[in-house]
Amino acid sequence: MGSLVQRAAVTHRVPASASLGRRARGQGSGLVGSPTKGVASFGIDVSGTILSLPGIPMTSPALPSEPTSEPSLTPPPIRGVPSAERRAIVVGASSGMGAALVRRLAAEGYRVAALARREAKLVELAEDCRADCAKTGGAVFVHVHDVARQADVSALFEEIVRELGGLDLIVYAAGIMPATGPAEYDTEKDLAQVTVNLGGCIAWCNEAAKLFRTQRSGTIIGISSIAGDRGRKGNPVYCATKAAMNTYLEALRNRLSEVGVHVLTVKPGFIDTPMTEGLDGLFWLISADDAARTILTAARHRFWNTRYVPLRWWAVGAIIRSIPSILFRRLNV
Ligand SMILES: NC(=O)c1ccc[n+]([C@@H]2O[C@H](COP(=O)([O-])OP(=O)(O)OC[C@H]3O[C@@H](n4cnc5c(N)ncnc54)[C@H](OP(=O)(O)O)[C@@H]3O)[C@@H](O)[C@H]2O)c1
Repeated sequence: MGSLVQRAAVTHRVPASASLGRRARGQGSGLVGSPTKGVASFGIDVSGTILSLPGIPMTSPALPSEPTSEPSLTPPPIRGVPSAERRAIVVGASSGMGAALVRRLAAEGYRVAALARREAKLVELAEDCRADCAKTGGAVFVHVHDVARQADVSALFEEIVRELGGLDLIVYAAGIMPATGPAEYDTEKDLAQVTVNLGGCIAWCNEAAKLFRTQRSGTIIGISSIAGDRGRKGNPVYCATKAAMNTYLEALRNRLSEVGVHVLTVKPGFIDTPMTEGLDGLFWLISADDAARTILTAARHRFWNTRYVPLRWWAVGAIIRSIPSILFRRLNV
């Protein structure tokens, strides 16, 4: 299958601070495109002062300071993590948790590739991040991509890694949960979920796994769901895709931990995103930004292999998993 990957849209660049020695990527803004590939890129690229922690490099936004002496060529590593190691891909970045993660990463000085199908949402997100990027040296690159086009993933992954100058973190946040009637058995609709929730995850995480294995570092975050803990009446295939995702991510972790690569499985409860909009019976709802903060903290500390978000869902998961099938089938979940 040919590569029909599109990248969207705008370039806005602010001069880099000489004190931190980053490459200034030009000034001004405008729409740029590459006629040969039918693509264009969005970049907000400004240098800033950076703080990091071990594991996933994390930063607190801070204003760049004026140079007092000759500019250094490379930013000094802070707590052992050089700024060059803040490069991330977020798949499923146009709304909800994916978008919140992009905002947080950009505010922490990451160069982030944001992927999804809705170009306008991605461009808006990149624009929203502009001020934070100006403070931290972060950048957001927009790529329009449908994860169902799995044959495109390998080439696009390579292209993005080149664009970012490497890769340290990938988040797979793309997912769909279509409403499913109690007596509905629609194979086409079900397999579409498998393609997005599971197929896309495998396609993107496999690429990251190959790279991270070679470089012997990196973090993979897969946003699964507590729904994967049991097969529920309400949405059998959604649950099945998340359960398969959990097992796939566990196996990746088991393969890659010995080479220093961390794989985090995230199991959110109810998060206030477009996916849950209008749904009844939600409780313990938290914002996408709160979820993003928890996810990044969990990934950074590397203590967690699986993280329920918020943590209280761990107890719910433990109870749900322990209910005998004969009783569970009577529950209306
Ligand atoms: N919200 C919750 O309560 C909750 C709970 C547990 C788990 N989760 C999981 O969390 C993840 C994020 O969901 P969310 O709650 O943040 O919902 P959301 O706002 O609907 O985000 C879903 C993201 O997936 C992207 N996506 C969907 N189909 C795609 C495709 N074919 N190609 C590329 N991207 C695609 C969407 O972008 P485009 O439409 O622009 O392509 C969007 O950016 C999902 O995997 C979901 O299952 C959510």
